[in-house]
Order: sequence, then C-alpha cells, then structure tokens
Amino acid sequence: MKFEEFMSESQKVILSGMRPSGKLHLGHWEGALKNYLEFQADDARCYFMIADWHALTSEYASPASVRENTHELLLDWLAVGVDPKRATLFVQSDVAEHSELFVILGMLTPLAWAERCPTYKEQQQEITDKDLSTYGFLGYPILQAADILLYRATHVPVGADQLPHVEITREIARRLNHFYGDVLPEPQSVITPSSRVPGIDGRKMSKSYGNAILLSDSADEINRKIMQMYTDPNKVRANTPGNPEKCVVLAFYKIYRPDLAETAERECRAGERGCVVCKKGLAPILQAVIEPIRTRREQLAATPEQLDKILSDGAEAARTCAQETLQKIRQAMGWRPRPTGKQAA
Ligand code: TRP
Repeated sequence: MKFEEFMSESQKVILSGMRPSGKLHLGHWEGALKNYLEFQADDARCYFMIADWHALTSEYASPASVRENTHELLLDWLAVGVDPKRATLFVQSDVAEHSELFVILGMLTPLAWAERCPTYKEQQQEITDKDLSTYGFLGYPILQAADILLYRATHVPVGADQLPHVEITREIARRLNHFYGDVLPEPQSVITPSSRVPGIDGRKMSKSYGNAILLSDSADEINRKIMQMYTDPNKVRANTPGNPEKCVVLAFYKIYRPDLAETAERECRAGERGCVVCKKGLAPILQAVIEPIRTRREQLAATPEQLDKILSDGAEAARTCAQETLQKIRQAMGWRPRPTGKQAA
C-alpha cells in the first residue's frame, strides 16, 4: 500500500528495521528515516529494530563490526529525531524471542519459498567476497518474518527491494494460521518511496559505491565531496555552455533549494556560470542540512549510558509484546506454556 492509504487506517502496529552495516547517509534520511518520523508522529504503535542478527547473516566473520555499527545506527536514528518516547527502539538480539519464533517458523516454511526468494538469488550472485552459501543466509527472510509476526505488526514500512520478504511473511502467517488456528494477522507492506538523492558520482547513493554523503560527515568532508560531484564532462571551462541534465550539483539544488535551481540551470546552459561557482553555492546549503544532525549526533555520543538505557528500555518493552505472541502461538500449537520467570536481559 501507499503511504497516504496507510495514514487513514486505525489501530496500526508498525515494525521496521535496518541492518547495522555502517553509518547512514542522506539517501537513508530522504528515504526511510523521514518516514520513521511520520510514523512515530501518528498514533500507531511503532517498533524500530536494529537487525543485528540479519547483519550477521553476511558478516558472521566479523561480528565486532556489527556491534560497532549497532551503536552508530542508534546514533543516526536519534540524531535525525527518531524518538524513544514515541517508538520502541531495540536491538533484535536483545529479544531472544526472535530466535524462538524463527525456529518454529523454520519448521513450517517450505524450503522452496526460501530458495526462490529473489533477494537470495541476487545477493548470492552479487556478493562474491563472502561465502553466503549458509543455512543462516537462506533463512534471512524467515528471520524477518519472525521479527514482523512477533509484534503482530499490521504494517511494515520497507523499500521496494524488501517486498519479497514481506510477501513471504504473509505466506508464512497464513500457513501457521492454517495449521494452528487464527493466531497471527497478515501484515501489509508500506512502500517507502525511494530517495531522490543521487550519489556524488550520479549513481544511486550507496555506501558500497563509495559515493555517499554521511549524516556524520564533517564540514570538510562535505565540502570535499561537493567538489567531487559529477558535472557535465563537456563543460570544460566556466564559460562553456553546459548540459545540466545529468549534473549532480543541480540535482541537489532541485531537492534542497528548488527556488535557486532554475537560475542555476539557465546560467549553466548559457555558459554564464562555472561548475566551481555552482558547487561553492551548494556548500552552505548542504552544510545547513547536515550540521544540526551531526551536532546532535556528537552530543548524543558523549553519553553512552543514555544510549544503553534507551536500548535496554526498548528491549524490555519489545520483549513484553514478543512473549505474549509466543505464548499465543505455543497455546495454539497445544504446546506447554513457557515457564515464566525472569529471562536474563
Ligand atoms: N531486511 C531489512 C533490510 O535489509 C532489515 C529488516 C530486518 C527488516 N528485519 C526487518 C525490515 C523487519 C522490516 C521488517 O532493509
């Protein structure tokens, strides 16, 4: 469903997650994160999860990087205004119930559903520097189904690339309901519009292309990246008329200062403005976007105890809901209720 349709529904439970695989960039901010802020402002119950086990499916050889990035991801979220008072922020592996439901779902998920998942096939082919022929990597979408179903989420905001995973989740929920009775709602995906921000080389902004402007970049780094931005290669001199169609600098004006973009475009075509001048004009504009985020991030990083507290409170709230769902499922299966008692946090 589209974002607008979603907003008109009531009684919503949202679950979304990101893998801790590196610092976030402007593409994340303009795509997924701005939506997080809208969701948390709505009366929906929001769970935003740091999917560290999902990161481990490909990073199992370097778990320390997953741990470090968990911290970085939380900082990025908080710095843009994701609010632990309005949403439950937690780390997947802090809530052991994810692993239990993953085991149960694994029992009833046909192998073919996992094997035919398009993301599985694509990543197997694209990522060649890691061995992804593992049981865990095949199980990636089933683990994601466990994440979603554990909170009986009604809506799952995701980018288009994640749609097959929400689809498998729905199929798994249906299959579980078919065997054990109506226990789980089928979640709907809410498609996050893909970000319009290009990378500095003109391709999609992505960490793996090395073309990203990070939310944590220093002022110098931002200036340097602006100077590297792709412009019309035929515009060899400042007064050569340019073709701004594929110019990254102009794309940024259009997003952040549409009022200035028209003049920039006209002057470029007429050979009245050079790329260096154009880039220098963009610098303060982009600085003003990143600077407040970076400053807030630095302040937050100075009090790690507070970050730990946010995550332990989040895990506790998440666990309450997750345990309730698991009891329901165990009951529907005719399983023994889980002995209560404090679970080590
Ligand atoms: N697979 C998602 C991604 O890479 C991250 C994720 C894990 C997720 N569990 C989720 C997203 C549950 C939505 C719901 O983007």
